[in-house]
Amino acid sequence: MSSKTYAPTAEMVANAHVNEAKYNEMYAASISDPEGFWREQGKRVDWIKPFTQVKDVSYAFGEVNINWYADGTLNVSANCIDRHLATRGSQTAIIWEPDNPDEGAQHITYQELHDNTCRMANVLKDLGVGKGDRVVLYLPMIPEAAYAMLACTRIGAIHSIVFAGFSPDALSARVNGSEAKVVITADEAPRGGRNTPLKTNADQALLHCSDDVKCLVVKRTGGQTTWVDGRDVDYNALAADASTECAPEEMNAEDPLFILYTSGSTGQPKGVVHTTGGYLVYASLTHEMVFDYHDGDIYWCTADVGWVTGHSYIVYGPLANGATSVMFEGTPTYPDASRFWQVCEKHKVNQFYTAPTAIRALMGQGNEFVEKCDLSDLKVLGTVGEPINPEAWNWYNDVVGGGRCPIVDTWWQTETGGHLMTPLPGAHATKPGSAMKPFFGIEPVVLEPASGEIIEGNGVEGVLCIKDSWPGQMRTVWGDHERFMKTYFADYKGYYFTGDGCRRDEDGDYWITGRVDDVINVSGHRMGTAEVESALVAHAKVAEAAVVGYPHDIKGQGIYCYVTLMSGEEPSEELRKELRTWVRTEIGPIASPDLIQWAPGLPKTRSGKIMRRILRKIAENDYGALGDTSTLAEPAVVDDLIENRMNR
Ligand code: WTA
Repeated sequence: MSSKTYAPTAEMVANAHVNEAKYNEMYAASISDPEGFWREQGKRVDWIKPFTQVKDVSYAFGEVNINWYADGTLNVSANCIDRHLATRGSQTAIIWEPDNPDEGAQHITYQELHDNTCRMANVLKDLGVGKGDRVVLYLPMIPEAAYAMLACTRIGAIHSIVFAGFSPDALSARVNGSEAKVVITADEAPRGGRNTPLKTNADQALLHCSDDVKCLVVKRTGGQTTWVDGRDVDYNALAADASTECAPEEMNAEDPLFILYTSGSTGQPKGVVHTTGGYLVYASLTHEMVFDYHDGDIYWCTADVGWVTGHSYIVYGPLANGATSVMFEGTPTYPDASRFWQVCEKHKVNQFYTAPTAIRALMGQGNEFVEKCDLSDLKVLGTVGEPINPEAWNWYNDVVGGGRCPIVDTWWQTETGGHLMTPLPGAHATKPGSAMKPFFGIEPVVLEPASGEIIEGNGVEGVLCIKDSWPGQMRTVWGDHERFMKTYFADYKGYYFTGDGCRRDEDGDYWITGRVDDVINVSGHRMGTAEVESALVAHAKVAEAAVVGYPHDIKGQGIYCYVTLMSGEEPSEELRKELRTWVRTEIGPIASPDLIQWAPGLPKTRSGKIMRRILRKIAENDYGALGDTSTLAEPAVVDDLIENRMNR
């Protein structure tokens, strides 16, 4: 692995919020005196009733309990909007860039953000939504998505965003899981020149939900939608008459702010719960420090608000900091592979944050798409979502960043609320592929996977846990605290278990080596192999299925499915297609299988457990190293799988 380092320029070091000495000093203080450190940082947020308690946390299995700033009260939308109005009312809060560049960008000021958020809040109130109620958002990347998030926080409702790429089935499961009162959607979602019929999807989903659920429909394209009287509500008609004032609700720091469903290694996705005070402090601090955001900068995170990255680093972190945040509806390659760079040029973007899968896809298109754009305003580049390979890192650094923009490779998770490990632009010389250093207050520990013993020293590898809590940490799984404790605090007692493996190199810098559980990462989208398996076996012709990830040049990991058919069913190309379509409708296009291998049998232990290790090896085309197969019930099935492997 490359150990070449790339130091920030002298100019970057001189102007950055944090240089190396300051990082060392602040980091040491955050670990030796977390109470003091986070008491101070808690002041970045405006409190209605200031907190006196800072941290009250137990990681003890059976009684895991996480509280930050627990006696303080505040309102998130007031922090993201109202407190800026006196000084930044006419500053742009959100630059909205539509899918089709000819449609023209919108610049939404903080005052306009205020008025539109209040309109949305009043519409929700009129629908009977109040403090603690759940609202599901199923929206394109349009300004109304931000208004809806902030409107929920304004009235104390809990939002749960479902990525617009998810299917009606996935949507109804999340509406029912959170017992939402309202689903906010739009007629259609334009992306990459094509329109997804969101409202039609929502119609299908709502057939499986309570009749009491209302559907608030935002007009995006004006595309034809069916209308269910008494259930569907026209947002634009109501918003036009709604008041632009709505008093922010006083919320406790530990009141839930949002639920976000994410995939785990077992079962169906779980509702990750984040709360109000600690999350906002953490999102705002990391946004400012990690991107070295300065007043007046234009910041762009290309994520979708359907993922945690969009929550923390398009909406809450940047807006809490009074930033100008770009919100992009489209894709990296529409109308052509120059789109990202054209948007950077057009809006003079200073900080740009995207995923390795996009970088790899654009790298493959050639440098001319980048070079024809003026990227001289870029100062910091970020990446998130999966390990970045050094080749893509170098291209990002050289071709996009012109060798002068530090790359922050930010490692974190839906569960963590914000960045846990990353270099800081003015503080650290970076290494291609390394997440480098823990953020303030984060104490990573590397454990021996089997024994759970701490591995000290450098040049070591193991599973990655975090020793203590930080304010942005998730608090529970919605409706299932037991599952929360079992997932994150049972395997390695006394620590938060991340599910990732990592290496601490000779210099003490961290490298994420990928998931150690059955979660895969496809184009930066996190997916449980168990979810895809259960979708496959729900098909009438499928008897059994096992799903693993395999290395994919663009997506990072692809989805490899081993499928055993019901007896009497014949494998065919047509059936392969049918299964692919099936999974897409059960979960969504992002879960579409890349390779489907017909498996007359699956390798199992004598106790009937599928040996995934072997299936992973075959999918990786690395079948020479299968390891110990002596515990297999029927060793011959492996020979068949190797012979008919799909990834050669
Ligand atoms: C992976 C996304 C390597 C990791 C914010 C983690 C990364 C999972 C990185 C969380 C990175 C995220 N380097 N791996 N910089 N960032 N991951 O919940 O496996 O969608 O556990 O959150 O993505 O994915 P999630």
